[in-house]
Amino acid sequence: MSSADAMEIMMSRRSIRSLLPDPVEREKLEEICRAGLYACNGCGEQKARILLIMTPQLLDDLRKLVADRVYKMSLARHQSRERTILKAKNNIKFDFTYGGPALAVAVAPEDWLHSMADCACMLQNLQNAAWYHGLGACWVNQLRWLCEDKDEELIGLLHQAGMREDETVFGSVTLGYFSGPAPQAAPRREGRLVFLE
Ligand SMILES: Cc1cc2nc3c(=O)[nH]c(=O)nc-3n(C[C@H](O)[C@H](O)[C@H](O)COP(=O)(O)O)c2cc1C
Repeated sequence: MSSADAMEIMMSRRSIRSLLPDPVEREKLEEICRAGLYACNGCGEQKARILLIMTPQLLDDLRKLVADRVYKMSLARHQSRERTILKAKNNIKFDFTYGGPALAVAVAPEDWLHSMADCACMLQNLQNAAWYHGLGACWVNQLRWLCEDKDEELIGLLHQAGMREDETVFGSVTLGYFSGPAPQAAPRREGRLVFLE
């Protein structure tokens, strides 16, 4: 792959919110996640980890639990989550994974200073690698919300899935094949790049 291709991937990647349920090859997913593990990380400590969930039963349990909790969220208390909460309240089939057959959950120690930044870098690398492999991906933050809310049932499920006692979720990315064209990027806002020469 040339550096021009790398630029193309970074600029053309978009969040995909309608994924096919078709399984994704294990080797492909491993390579995508490996790209995440090579992201920059605070103090070079490599504390962030990925739980790649492909088990249909666990994915279903997570979908049901998230739909239930988001449905019950109060709009008044969670204004920044309004769009998602309204979707859950209006749609009996609300699925925070957008139908994807794999979910990469970024976990890291709750008390590590760089956990959020480490997980964000990791998930961005992972999304670019997914795009390179022709997969759709979208950051989905509901597991993070519920971990912040200390939802015991969710945390219990995640412990069963391999999350350690000292860790929490900082984000997750749903992955899968998709059909149809990728959305266009929104125009970039003015004033976000300042050159001092
Ligand atoms: C921290 C963070 C949280 C996000 N949470 C969600 C989410 O819960 N659901 C969702 O559909 N997209 C979510 N996104 C994706 C953004 O909406 C998306 O990246 C943004 O609209 C820009 O679009 P693009 O990724 O296609 O460039 C999140 C992105 C980030 C970085």
